[in-house]
Amino acid sequence: MVAVGKVLFFDKNLSVNRNTACAFCHIPETGFQGGIELINRTIVNQPGSVRTRFSLRKPPSAAYAAFSPPLQYPTKPGEAKCSHCFIGGNFWDVRATGVRLGNPAAAQAEGSPLNPTEMANREPACVVRRISQRPYRGLFEQVLGPRAFDIHWPANVDALCSVPNSNPATRIGSEVPGPNDTPWIVPLATADRVRAQQAFDLMGRAIEAFEASPEVSPFSSKFDAFLARKAKLSATEMRGYTLFNGQARCYLCHVDPKGEPRPLFSDNTTANLGIPKNPALGYYTQTKPDRYGYAADPEGQAFVDRGVGDFLRSPENGNTAWHALASTFDGRFRTVTIRNVDKRPYPAFVKAYGQNGYFKNLKAIVHFYNTRDTLPRCASGSPGEGVTCWPAPEVPRNLNTHCCDLGLSPQQEDDLVAFLRTLTDGYFTPSTVTAGAP
Ligand code: HEC
Ligand code: HEC
Repeated sequence: MVAVGKVLFFDKNLSVNRNTACAFCHIPETGFQGGIELINRTIVNQPGSVRTRFSLRKPPSAAYAAFSPPLQYPTKPGEAKCSHCFIGGNFWDVRATGVRLGNPAAAQAEGSPLNPTEMANREPACVVRRISQRPYRGLFEQVLGPRAFDIHWPANVDALCSVPNSNPATRIGSEVPGPNDTPWIVPLATADRVRAQQAFDLMGRAIEAFEASPEVSPFSSKFDAFLARKAKLSATEMRGYTLFNGQARCYLCHVDPKGEPRPLFSDNTTANLGIPKNPALGYYTQTKPDRYGYAADPEGQAFVDRGVGDFLRSPENGNTAWHALASTFDGRFRTVTIRNVDKRPYPAFVKAYGQNGYFKNLKAIVHFYNTRDTLPRCASGSPGEGVTCWPAPEVPRNLNTHCCDLGLSPQQEDDLVAFLRTLTDGYFTPSTVTAGAP
């Protein structure tokens, strides 16, 4: 499964124009995030298979995401880490719930191939058709049986599938639609449809297996070596570590439980940190229909990304009981892992942080956590922005109050950054690799 997942992850033939693999937006050298520095510094999103289309949010790390549980909303005290919160899922807005497939990363891997701003296939059968033409077809047949691709394709299937998905119902978020929302366009008999879905699900599961494997999620940072008593942290890293689990309160969400040998640095819940809008997002430029009639963002700069709230009120949320919760989750995004936040191909390489890539270095985001509530507000683009003042939050509702007035000195901010730098994989080769979730 891991080997199949790896070839799928790097196969650009699974995008409508055969030009965009998963790895186009999630490269190993940056910790499976965006790999084009100019884009990180400016529009934040790599173009999709249709090169004039851009998704809404920054590609988060595809590593460690497979350890997030299927999305749940516990309501009884003591049932989970918190009650009346969302735990689990993938994507910044947790819309890849993983409830059907048992793992959100498998559900996620079915989203990108269909998303109009990413790989832009019109429906699952189109992706399966491509897989059936690839040299690794036999690996699928080994798992699903020799008849895995025994599908009676209509004669015009390749013509139908060469047109990009331009389904306007999919404009919120960046990797919708959910499978239920994508109209089938390849006419298939019921038995063939079932086969196609099985192969599509196998694709999702194989990618999940690859993402969870030591090649993508190796737990091999300096911090892991420190936990395994194979390395010592420097004085500044150690001070940062103490701040992280103390005065700076990072541990409240990026959890590092005492005694846990492989902390994920995410509790998989959601929060609205009050990050300002990023006016440079390429997404906002897509106001006019392209030649396929698709306009990702007719509202342009006026568009407000309400994150989890928008997912809950959208048709992609199949759980009607959750619809009523939408407004209390406006502005919240998934707590992503902070492993590999400093992984970059060379020291001067710029990465983007936060769901909209507003921050361009670790010091900037740490300074935000430290001073969001103490520095004055200023307009975006003002002198001093990000140093002596902050623009207003993109979504002012549901702001998290556990952060953002931390009283850290500039030296303490630097200490925290030094600690974050210890979370970069590749420092050592773990000798024992335990299978499955940490
Ligand atoms: C064109 C760029 C692009 C391509 C291609 C792409 N992604 Fe992504 N990926 C993104 C963006 C942008 C997000 C965030 C979207 C959101 O949350 O709304 C994302 C989110 C994710 C996440 C969620 C991580 C988390 O912690 O929730 C995973 C995992 C992931 N992608 C894996 C993949 C896989 C697997 C593929 C190929 C099947 C893929 N991506 C293809 C841009 C891309
Ligand atoms: C209340 C929960 C919470 C606390 C406390 C918290 N974080 Fe976060 N963190 C999040 C969430 C949620 C995101 C993603 C949110 C977004 O982009 O809107 C995030 C994102 C980040 C990112 C960007 C990751 C990326 O790939 O873009 C970094 C770095 C980070 N946090 C570091 C820290 C540090 C350091 C601290 C302590 C000073 C901290 N966080 C405290 C919830 C929290």
